[in-house]
Amino acid sequence: MKRFLLSFIAIVTIGSLGQLRAQNIIIPVETAETALVLQADKDKNLSIIYFDKKLANKNEYEQVAAVYKQTGDYTQVLNAAYTGSGSRNLAEPAITVTHADGNNSLDLRYVNHKVTRESDGVSLLTVLLKDPVYNFEVTLFYKSYFKQDVIEQWSGIKHNEKGNVTLHKYASANLHLKGKGFWLNQYFGDWAKEMQAEETKITHGIKTLDSKLGTRANLFQPSVFMVSLNKPASEDEGTVLYGALEYSGNFRTDLELDFQDNLRIISGINNYASPYTLKAGEEFITPMFLYLLSHKGKGEASRKMHDWARNYKVLDGKGQRLTLLNNWEATYFDFNEDKLKALLKDTRKLGVDLFLLDDGWFANKYPRNGDVAGLGDWQVNKTKLPNGIATLVEEAQNNQVKFGIWIEPEMVNPKSELYEKHPDWVIKQPKREEHYFRNQLVLDLANPKVQDFVFNVVDELFTQNPKLAYIKWDCNAVIYNAYSSYLKNQSHFYIEYMRGLYNVLQKIRNKYPTVPMMLCSGGGGRVDYAALQYFTEFWPSDNTDPLERIFMQWEYSYFYPAITSANHVTDWGKQPIKYRTDVAMMGKLGFDIVVSHLSEKDLAYCQNAIKEYNGFKDIIWQGNQYRLANPKEGSVASMAYINEAKSKGIIFNYLVNNRYGEGSVYPVKLKGLDAKASYRLKEICLYPGNNSPIDAGKTYSGEFLMTVGFNPQVNSGRTSVVLQLEKAGN
Ligand code: DGJ
Repeated sequence: MKRFLLSFIAIVTIGSLGQLRAQNIIIPVETAETALVLQADKDKNLSIIYFDKKLANKNEYEQVAAVYKQTGDYTQVLNAAYTGSGSRNLAEPAITVTHADGNNSLDLRYVNHKVTRESDGVSLLTVLLKDPVYNFEVTLFYKSYFKQDVIEQWSGIKHNEKGNVTLHKYASANLHLKGKGFWLNQYFGDWAKEMQAEETKITHGIKTLDSKLGTRANLFQPSVFMVSLNKPASEDEGTVLYGALEYSGNFRTDLELDFQDNLRIISGINNYASPYTLKAGEEFITPMFLYLLSHKGKGEASRKMHDWARNYKVLDGKGQRLTLLNNWEATYFDFNEDKLKALLKDTRKLGVDLFLLDDGWFANKYPRNGDVAGLGDWQVNKTKLPNGIATLVEEAQNNQVKFGIWIEPEMVNPKSELYEKHPDWVIKQPKREEHYFRNQLVLDLANPKVQDFVFNVVDELFTQNPKLAYIKWDCNAVIYNAYSSYLKNQSHFYIEYMRGLYNVLQKIRNKYPTVPMMLCSGGGGRVDYAALQYFTEFWPSDNTDPLERIFMQWEYSYFYPAITSANHVTDWGKQPIKYRTDVAMMGKLGFDIVVSHLSEKDLAYCQNAIKEYNGFKDIIWQGNQYRLANPKEGSVASMAYINEAKSKGIIFNYLVNNRYGEGSVYPVKLKGLDAKASYRLKEICLYPGNNSPIDAGKTYSGEFLMTVGFNPQVNSGRTSVVLQLEKAGN
């Protein structure tokens, strides 16, 4: 891409004595709309001097500082590009170290930088910083995606001192933002209550978003957040920064409103209980901190994020996904071969692509008939499935559907043969009582033998059943009593666990590059963009009540594209089957119901909906997503997916308030259309026997639909309305 600019300008000025001298080095990281500008001054302090809309004339970035008349910076490092500690810095650092000689100070100065073009539209800036006193260096990496305005930033930390250095804090990145006030949109949650949003004005001091759970790390708090600048951004207006750490373990993001009223954002692995001993010559590579700045509101930011994720990050992000029938809520642990064979027939009858066998198929000495035993013993349970998995895979083939299976390979029940044979593979304190989360403990993935064990769980399943088409990878427990009997240095525990997990996932992907895998974590306790490089989709929550899911999927959708969101129709909630199915269609559709219990009409609805979904799923998965009516702000929720050509779209509309007379009183304004084109809107996914009051023959201009809007006629008799939009002419 010719326009792709990530360049270096040495601004040459005439000094006071009249000599020509190179003064400041300006390093802009420019994307389509934004510029993050670094500057190395004459003393080689590297700072962030600008992060906002891109300017046409790059020379003007250097003028920015002078037009701000804030209080003075006593340190010259308040806006440092990567803030050290123990020397001049007085704010929250990005990095804190103890050198080999016991000294705690670090002062990082610019040495050089280079830009490499990674691929079309993707560029990598590396900046080398060194301490003038100690043989210690940090390389800052900025990978920028031009079209999507996305930057991934991370650091490489190295030294050649005489002895080990201790890293007390080792953030991936720190940012420095200027604005007239900042508003933080963050998330909290628990089981069945994932992705609850709250927005507050940031006050002076430090606000920390973090996790210390080890595994299932997002259960109480995910690392994704938004910061609005100058005023709270809305869906279509305002300046907003999206941030997320690409890491599945403990994370920590500090947001510090400093004494000058600027916002510093420092994000990385949580240093909680984790001082890291860095040997001479070893490089500590941090995970990536992902960020994106939009000046057109949260909606545009999310669409850029989706585009980036599908093109560059999520495994098979531009590919296909399988619809499925899962047996978890249909049978729980209570099944046998005959029951499953009947479910395989139901899978075909329903019309989905795959049957997913959930928890309970394994373990013999301590059979997995409940969540109290058997986890870790990945041998097929002979009582339930005397002919093994192979017979089921074959039976699936006979029914012309694919077969997938559930595993939770990082975990163990104390009541298991695995625990009896390898107590040293289990994370627990040697001298303390065990404490369980869902009656289970976590295996020590810091130990290479455990890594091999976990890899083999997957490898053996595929070796024995080459036709296996899908894996659901669960993770139901957090880490208590963090201790590895393998590691010498317990401070490395949380980091080594994650390294072990990623090693295993990488090994799996080397051997099985494309098989779809769902990232599940006792509901939605684990999703991030490091994990989504190995997984094709994630499970947002065990809470599949469609009313709850409208809110939850709405929030997830800011950060993750619909193709990654596994949404299942279950018996949760009081809504009719149409409502439940329609909500699940706003992502990757699946079912977890007893098909044979469905009424004839309900079954017919589902069968038809799946056929319709197969016709428009590409628009959901690859189209642009527009939030039209926010369920938090009214009685109707409305979400649209419009294809790239703006010629086709699907619009989901729901009643989210059952009070008397509630419904779509006002029209819903569409977005993302061609104003000049004309469109038709037709109601699809109708429940058998129902007629639509919507006239599919009428045409409307894009301008009309976006300015005046369209009424989906949602009311207590029509609680879920799916509309198909089609271009009728130019
Ligand atoms: C938790 C998951 O979220 C459920 O979908 C199910 O797979 C159970 N674990 C099985 O134990």
